[in-house]
Amino acid sequence: MKALTWQGKRTVTVEEVPDPVIQQPEDAIIRVTSSAICGSDLHLYELLGPFLDRGDILGHEPMGVVVEVGADVKTLAVGDRVVIPFNIACGECYLCRRGFQSQCETTQVREYGSGAALFGYTKLYGQVPGGQAEYLRVPLADYNHIPIASDLPDERYLFLSDILPTAWQGVEYAQVPDDGTLVVMGLGPVGQFVSRIGRHRGHRVLAVDPVPERRAMAERHGIETFDLTDTIVDELRDLTDGRGADSVVDAVGLEAHGNAGVEFVQKAVGVLPDPAARQLLDKAGVDRLAAVYASIDTVRRGGTVSLSGVYAGDADIMPMKTLFDKQITLRMGQCNVKNWVDELVPLVEDIADPLGVMDLTTHSAPLDDAPELYRTFQKKEDGCIKVVLRPSTV
Ligand SMILES: NC(=O)c1ccc[n+]([C@@H]2O[C@H](COP(=O)([O-])OP(=O)(O)OC[C@H]3O[C@@H](n4cnc5c(N)ncnc54)[C@H](O)[C@@H]3O)[C@@H](O)[C@H]2O)c1
Ligand SMILES: [Zn+2]
Ligand SMILES: [Zn+2]
Repeated sequence: MKALTWQGKRTVTVEEVPDPVIQQPEDAIIRVTSSAICGSDLHLYELLGPFLDRGDILGHEPMGVVVEVGADVKTLAVGDRVVIPFNIACGECYLCRRGFQSQCETTQVREYGSGAALFGYTKLYGQVPGGQAEYLRVPLADYNHIPIASDLPDERYLFLSDILPTAWQGVEYAQVPDDGTLVVMGLGPVGQFVSRIGRHRGHRVLAVDPVPERRAMAERHGIETFDLTDTIVDELRDLTDGRGADSVVDAVGLEAHGNAGVEFVQKAVGVLPDPAARQLLDKAGVDRLAAVYASIDTVRRGGTVSLSGVYAGDADIMPMKTLFDKQITLRMGQCNVKNWVDELVPLVEDIADPLGVMDLTTHSAPLDDAPELYRTFQKKEDGCIKVVLRPSTV
């Protein structure tokens, strides 16, 4: 089959690789009809190379049609249409039962001290072949799928694999009071959905992003938007009675604009040998923290900051005095996809499209175009906001 493979920093290629096969009786194989590129894939493309091997298949936002099931699979049959969540979880352990599928105790990657295994996401998360490919092996398939019971197009459902539940969790964790104001840092695909979910729940939403077309998209959905300027925190505070927002979601993460010093360290990681780079990435403060600092500054006293954006350094310097003095609640983490799906399916199937799932994809293309589209998405060229690849036709 054809698959999108990682070959080195900012180098991905489409290669002919062996088809996946059933390895365990709980596995299923799907033919991938749609597979999106995520902002998290950009971290692999730019920064996390030391945790990847040449030839690793990327992709963790897939959906498709079941073509083969293992002997113990009970709830899936050949021909079923499914979305595949990016977490690989068992659904039965202590943490899965409590809604922490991204921490599953059955699939945790203990060698690296990480949470649940993920599709297409480095050695830290199990080095499981990903879904930007014609076929995908799904472990523990009875639990790790979202069934599709309608003939609605892929676009309606695809974002249930990751960014829609990620945004939902981001807003849940932000604990926005009923009459409250939500500030959203970043208007990539995750920030777009965070903002729309905030509006859908009746909150005032103020969102920040340096890219004009990302702000324009958000404005179509009733969001007040702002460019990323040196005075942005003061501007936001002025708009929230001088007090600050009740809640802030950081939908940017570790590659934020506005941290020149750390950008230098991140570049240095790229020229170190893998073991040294791994140690630096894992143990040192390599995250660009501009977005999380701005979030902590912008939230009101007693408010909540919710991090949807990914962070990866264990020695990042956090403003403990400010966090303590302002009595801030911080919540974060990889999304627990299956925990939110039951609430989201009716919203994506609603013909009125309340969360605008049909207004996010700017680029849709065959798998062969993936290398070019990784570049376009990373550089934010050609109005690119969300890329959906079509490895096979429906
Ligand atoms: N927690 C999870 O489970 C989960 C799931 C999916 C994605 N993510 C993470 O969410 C983040 C966003 O993902 P995405 O797909 O929207 O990616 P993206 O890279 O397209 O979006 C990031 C946006 O932030 C903007 N930005 C950069 N610096 C900024 C700053 N200082 N202030 C405000 N905006 C700034 C960029 O212009 C861009 O539009 C990434 O870190 C990604 O890894 C987390
Ligand atoms: Zn993702
Ligand atoms: Zn589990």
